[in-house]
Amino acid sequence: MPASTEENEISRASAPRRRISRRRFLLGAAAAPVLAGLYAWRIEPHWLELVRRDLPVANLPAALHGKTLVQLSDLHIGPQVDDDYLGETFLRVADLRPDIVVHTGDLITYHGPDVLDQARRLLEIFPLGALGTFAILGNHDYGRKWTNRSLADNVAGLLAEAGCTVLRNQVAEVGGLALVGLDDLWSGNFHVALPLSRLDAAQPAVVLCHNPDACDLPGWGRHRGWILAGHTHGGQCKPPFLPPPIQAVENRRYTAGEFELTGGRRLYINRGVGHLLPVRFNVRPEVTVFRLVASEPSA
Ligand SMILES: [Fe+2]
Repeated sequence: MPASTEENEISRASAPRRRISRRRFLLGAAAAPVLAGLYAWRIEPHWLELVRRDLPVANLPAALHGKTLVQLSDLHIGPQVDDDYLGETFLRVADLRPDIVVHTGDLITYHGPDVLDQARRLLEIFPLGALGTFAILGNHDYGRKWTNRSLADNVAGLLAEAGCTVLRNQVAEVGGLALVGLDDLWSGNFHVALPLSRLDAAQPAVVLCHNPDACDLPGWGRHRGWILAGHTHGGQCKPPFLPPPIQAVENRRYTAGEFELTGGRRLYINRGVGHLLPVRFNVRPEVTVFRLVASEPSA
């Protein structure tokens, strides 16, 4: 029948096209993981995101309203993080002309004494805040097994040379705002109760604390404000809509971003600038640009 012949001709004519389409599909399916791997290895680890958000602080002095506080975290200076990328990040932050800069730990990944020279060179262009620059230490600043206190002292010395006020369970003040810097949780040198006990209940305060798991420990007393943390790197690789499979925290809720805590505290976890293994997927590196705003004190 004519109709049947025509159908057969159409069918024969479209067969090669289907084969090509199938081949293209298979090639695409094979290439997708390779491209995703290249992206996670070569692109996303250096695709920095500037995250801008407000930081409401109770009893914030009027002179600090609208000032910027830039949080850098987890630079991980060492063989795994490209120096040029870190240098460009520093220049980008300096261009923002921040009022306050904080670094919340893991300045280095220790593989040997050379890393201290590498850090010293890079820190020559570390961006400083017009009102002050503050740093705390992370577990990697204590070297392997997080126990090398003399290395941690050297890292603190480098940060101080670069113009940072290094806070190790200490309190500093900028224009009436207290900055409380805690030492690293895993180092065994973490103490929260003593520095916080030095604050008046009404004093505006922001706490810098590398490892967010520390928020679940006792000792936070009457602190009702923000805790700025790092450490997790956001998990570095994360399937869409799912939590990251690998996390360096006990409380797996603490991935990245903002969290409401008990006692009127709020936690912000920065995803970090650097990395350990040089791969990131769906977790871009981050510099957080906070704008200080006044908030009502919590009950
Ligand atoms: Fe880290």
